[in-house]
Amino acid sequence: MSMMWAGRFSKEIDSRVNDFNSSIKFDARMYRSDITGSVAHAHMLGEQGIIDKSESEKITEGLWGILSDIDSGKLEIDPNAEDIHMFVEQVLTERLGDTGKRLHTSRSRNDQVATDLRHHLKYEEIPVIRTLLCDLTETIIGIAEQHYYTVMPGYTHLQRAQPVTFAHHILAYAQMLLRDLGRLDDCVKRMDEMPLGACALAGTTYPIDRNMTAASLNFGGVCQNSLDAVSDRDFCIELASAFSLIMMHLSRFSEEIVMWCSWEFKFIELDDAYSTGSSIMPQKKNPDVTELIRGKTGRVYGDLMTLLSMMKNLPLAYNKDMQEDKEAIFDACDTLKLCISTFTPMLATMTVLPDNMRRAAAKGFINATDCADYLVKKGLPFRSAYKATGSLVARCIELGTTLEELPIAEYKKYCDLFDDDVYDAISLDTCVMQRKSEGGPAPEAVAVQVERLKAALRALNDGYENKYRK
Ligand code: ARG
Repeated sequence: MSMMWAGRFSKEIDSRVNDFNSSIKFDARMYRSDITGSVAHAHMLGEQGIIDKSESEKITEGLWGILSDIDSGKLEIDPNAEDIHMFVEQVLTERLGDTGKRLHTSRSRNDQVATDLRHHLKYEEIPVIRTLLCDLTETIIGIAEQHYYTVMPGYTHLQRAQPVTFAHHILAYAQMLLRDLGRLDDCVKRMDEMPLGACALAGTTYPIDRNMTAASLNFGGVCQNSLDAVSDRDFCIELASAFSLIMMHLSRFSEEIVMWCSWEFKFIELDDAYSTGSSIMPQKKNPDVTELIRGKTGRVYGDLMTLLSMMKNLPLAYNKDMQEDKEAIFDACDTLKLCISTFTPMLATMTVLPDNMRRAAAKGFINATDCADYLVKKGLPFRSAYKATGSLVARCIELGTTLEELPIAEYKKYCDLFDDDVYDAISLDTCVMQRKSEGGPAPEAVAVQVERLKAALRALNDGYENKYRK
């Protein structure tokens, strides 16, 4: 019999069970981490005298050979293997005979898969997503720097509320992404403990040195409880949750872009290369990219839910249910990569239409708060100022005019504190320029925000480069 566990079994596995059980289709992508982990393990076995040093060296060489053969395409990963761990061990044994069979001493696929997955996420998935997120954040900052003076309406309840600038508005997303990056780094910090050496669940009687293996794999430490090491997937859940928040942020941004490029708003125009047409309506230019991102957000939430549900009633320690972790977390990784790498160039190539933004800001009485504040500055209590301004707005609506155009005589009917200087106080530019409070839309406040964002990004990347890059 060809199976790994041939000793105990007298029949070949049913081919349907074999297919059902197999995870090679989705865990093959971890081959680099699997082989790197096995090299570290074999080296430690040799150093500790658990296997002969000469054999450990042969195994190491054999493993590196397998890695380069997979990389070069010389060795194809067998889709009929049960999983990537079995596949690598099988090839090693084919190539080295009995020596290859010594690799799995003092190890189980349970600690192996938990180690591989953490290692793979830490080195091959998260860094890519991290870089994409940094690029996106920098792109947003770059656009913001061109629009310190582009006045647009700020909204609450999707009703025009108070004037802001386009820079101020989109930097809100840069702040969200900065926190998202921080969350990714937090996840990495906690997944940086190595499960290897927990073996099947209860450690081992061999004199292994887990810290030696962890150091060669560049893990920050080792999991302290062997049962916990092989049986939790909280690191996947935490990551999927961080991914879900990223998607939620992208989705909100996407929703705004969908609105902004509609004729109702026309605040922006997407580049032709990032829009699609209609098969029937010749005039259409659709923001499909942003709509798809909005749609795919649900998919990532689904991955998070898959992982949470998968874990909720599993007794310690390993259970096969947990094999489902990889499809969910890899789908989330792939979806994120796809979404961010399309969103960023779409954003970078869109045309901002400042005149339309300003026209929208000029309607809707978004300077009413400033009108009330004008009266407060002249000594009126805010509530009275609020009421007088409310009546003025009602009067403007009645006359079909704006606060800017209402004659001063009308103003005085509602409060004798009004004077000619009210027009300057309620001009859109004044409204924006005077909102200098920290975090506000005044260009000087936005410039401070941009400097801080850049510094925060630098700090995040410095910390990350030093600690987690291979
Ligand atoms: N392919 C398995 C997984 O992804 C590897 C671990 C198998 N362990 C076991 N005891 N059957 O979870």
